[in-house]
Amino acid sequence: MIRHIMRSVLTVFAVVIFILIGVNFLSDDEPKETMNLSTHASYMKTKDKIPSKFDHIDLYTKDEQSQTYNFHTVLPVTNSDTINSNIEEWIETKKQTFLASLSDDVDTKASLQIDVAIERESEHYHRFVFKLNETNHDGEENETKKVFNVDLETETVLSLNHFLDTNDQTLQAFLEQGIKSLEEDTGIAIDDNTKQHILTSHDTWEWFIDQDGLTFIFDSHVFPDEFDSPMSAHIPLPALYLHMQDDINQYVKLSNAQQKEMKTAIEEEKERILAAKQEAEKREQEKAEAKRKQEEAATNSGGKYVALTFDDGPSADVTPRVLETLKQYDAKATFFMLGSQVDYHPDMAKRVSDAGHEIGNHTKQHQDLTTLGPEEIRQEISSTSDTIANATGTRPYLVRPPYGAYNDYVINDAANHGDSIVLWSVDSLDWQSRNANAINHEIQQQITPGSIVLMHDIHEATADALPELMEQLHQEGYQFVTVSQLLEMQGQNGAGPYYGIAK
Ligand code: NI
Repeated sequence: MIRHIMRSVLTVFAVVIFILIGVNFLSDDEPKETMNLSTHASYMKTKDKIPSKFDHIDLYTKDEQSQTYNFHTVLPVTNSDTINSNIEEWIETKKQTFLASLSDDVDTKASLQIDVAIERESEHYHRFVFKLNETNHDGEENETKKVFNVDLETETVLSLNHFLDTNDQTLQAFLEQGIKSLEEDTGIAIDDNTKQHILTSHDTWEWFIDQDGLTFIFDSHVFPDEFDSPMSAHIPLPALYLHMQDDINQYVKLSNAQQKEMKTAIEEEKERILAAKQEAEKREQEKAEAKRKQEEAATNSGGKYVALTFDDGPSADVTPRVLETLKQYDAKATFFMLGSQVDYHPDMAKRVSDAGHEIGNHTKQHQDLTTLGPEEIRQEISSTSDTIANATGTRPYLVRPPYGAYNDYVINDAANHGDSIVLWSVDSLDWQSRNANAINHEIQQQITPGSIVLMHDIHEATADALPELMEQLHQEGYQFVTVSQLLEMQGQNGAGPYYGIAK
């Protein structure tokens, strides 16, 4: 089965076989010239010149025989010394490695046979696809491939970057896509170590590009036991459009339809980037505007009011400690609870509510709402409102989206259900530092009348920080109110989003 699939994917050699049996193989746009000499080789003596279809490429065969081995190679000689020496050096290296593996006293001769298929994609792009068949003294066969992609006009060995604008990241992405398509074609899952080896070792794969796309040829060595000859994986041309070099057409002639498709793909990508940029700018403007309004309102309200908020709870250990400190200062705060946490600790939610604090909605599962559709967003919010209402008897009307991430769907959902979106202006970074002094310092740096302060009643360090923090703020004349009270003082109502003020 695997062998069967392999044959079907090795297009290069399929083309060769067509020519050998006399079929005149034509591609859509221009005839593809292909040669293979392996079947003639046994008739040739050392360094025989054989006819080539290509004016500018001569082909020689070379045979060596001894008591212990047979060696056969085809050597293409082009008009470029640079390319010739590249190819010759490679063949010589392969031969030396082979000779080094031989022993003197054996029954079975070892053999190394190197054949080549030559393809001309365009004036600037020929490729030499070498196939090596090695048989050792035990009769074990091994097949590998090597591709030279060359420009005979400029005498250059072409790299992938001549065709595609790739960096390490895009190359990895292409390779990953190649491995995935190989898995799909063969139905065999490649293990993670092998994948990593392929991604980090260039000598485990070869490649070429034609009108159908990018083809990787993976060395069968790297796949433990699964395959016994090189495996091809194909990445279709449209997947390459956004990465093609401007002069791709001098190497691979794209059809008119392909050129049009590529242009459209690039336009769409540009539009997508622009839209994302505009969206981000819009959010920034909204944020600035919301802050300006709240600043204005805070100045008008006169007092030094701030809203402390606690997210991701309630928790069994930290929430009671927070409640205790708040009580000492007769302070009111807002707890943005997760539906999933209230499910665990409904009594704690009730205790928070009974102590006169406000409870807000932090969604059920703490997902990034911008990755969800409108119905999923509604589900995340409404199920949590129900849970909180059941536990405390009060339905929450403040929503804090996880990670502060929202989009138009989230705002519309809040507007349609009479909720307000509440972000924050002062981030205690308690989730990051987990250190009482650092938390206290961070808040003191930024806090100002009208601030909404973000903390989490799931970290012990937050509860540790609170007594000193509140004592200092109290001495500075701050008063602690819920988010709803703060917004009301500032004359704010509606869906928001509301950020609060920072220095
Ligand atoms: Ni959170």
